Amino acid sequence: MSDLSDLEAQILNGVKSTQDLTALEGLRVSVLGKKGSVTELLKTLGGLDPEARRTRGASINALKDRVTAALDQQRQQLEVAVLDARLAAERIDVSLPPRPNTEGKLHPLTQTMDELVAIFGAMNFTVATGPDIEDDWHNFTALNIPPEHPARDMHDTFYLRSAQPSNGAADSAPRKVLRTHTSPVQIRHMMAHKPPIRIIAPGRTFRSDHDATHSPNFHQVEGLVIGENIHMGHLKGCLIEFCKAFFEIDEVPLRFRPSFFPFTEPSAEVDIGCDRSSGDLVIGKGNDWLEILGCGMVHPKVMKNCGLDPERWQGFAFGMGIERITMLKYGLPDLRPFFDADLRWLRHYGFSFFETPSLERGLAP
Ligand code: DAH
Repeated sequence: MSDLSDLEAQILNGVKSTQDLTALEGLRVSVLGKKGSVTELLKTLGGLDPEARRTRGASINALKDRVTAALDQQRQQLEVAVLDARLAAERIDVSLPPRPNTEGKLHPLTQTMDELVAIFGAMNFTVATGPDIEDDWHNFTALNIPPEHPARDMHDTFYLRSAQPSNGAADSAPRKVLRTHTSPVQIRHMMAHKPPIRIIAPGRTFRSDHDATHSPNFHQVEGLVIGENIHMGHLKGCLIEFCKAFFEIDEVPLRFRPSFFPFTEPSAEVDIGCDRSSGDLVIGKGNDWLEILGCGMVHPKVMKNCGLDPERWQGFAFGMGIERITMLKYGLPDLRPFFDADLRWLRHYGFSFFETPSLERGLAP
């Protein structure tokens, strides 16, 4: 029997010293495979007499069991080691910042819109949206700007070509327009939702106007509040709070100057106090004024056009150019680069997307 214990010791030594899964498999085949050393031993049993075959058979099978167990154990250990090595090699630290530098910046307009959402969000406003391609009714008529109204001229409207009816008849429906302001979102919202309403609607707007201070595509934010007993004091308080938060100053001189918009009565334009005497524009002090938005109490006709009873509901609205307040806040001197997609400008004036504006942590880094 000593041949068996020698063989077993030799195999077990071999198993222990094999540190690689492929080599271990090779060893297994050389022991337990068709021509393996243990398999060959089992084949010799046939030549023995029954008594000897039983005892030697039992010994060889016990040996085979121990060898098999040792091979399994070694294979499991090696598999764990391989996995550990792979996990260590492929480890990444997901908390590291992107390297070498942050690529990509948020456009200042995006930053301002995020700030608007943070400020008005804290006043319980929600964000509403509407289509860029509007119909004449939502963009004008429902806002109390009937077809012959001179206010239509002021809007430098882009009209879309009307769809040709297939039967060749003249199309009587008014042409669609690229919305000239965000005010049609007021209409859409009042028609789809019951008061009380408290929304802002930031978005793209379009006018056929192009010079140093006008771009054919620009952005506005609309505000609309509808409720019972809403009055001009609410409008003023809301806009004063907004200006303080947005320009990050404790006291803002604001001037509500009587004005005219067809969709509000009374209407006002709001000027913010500023100082230009140093050559640079400083917001919030000095004795100069700069217009920043239009506003007013929602016109009863607009309410009626949206199915609301103006005897019961009152509200205020405002509209503001987003490029303009962005230029004022961040000291951007020129409107044109906003739309040039020049990476150098964006790298210089853009904002990190890791800092979401919030009133608690600060609006801009
Ligand atoms: N829609 C106006 C414009 O584009 C701005 C405006 C003025 C909006 C007064 C309002 C408002 O909601 O009440 O010139």
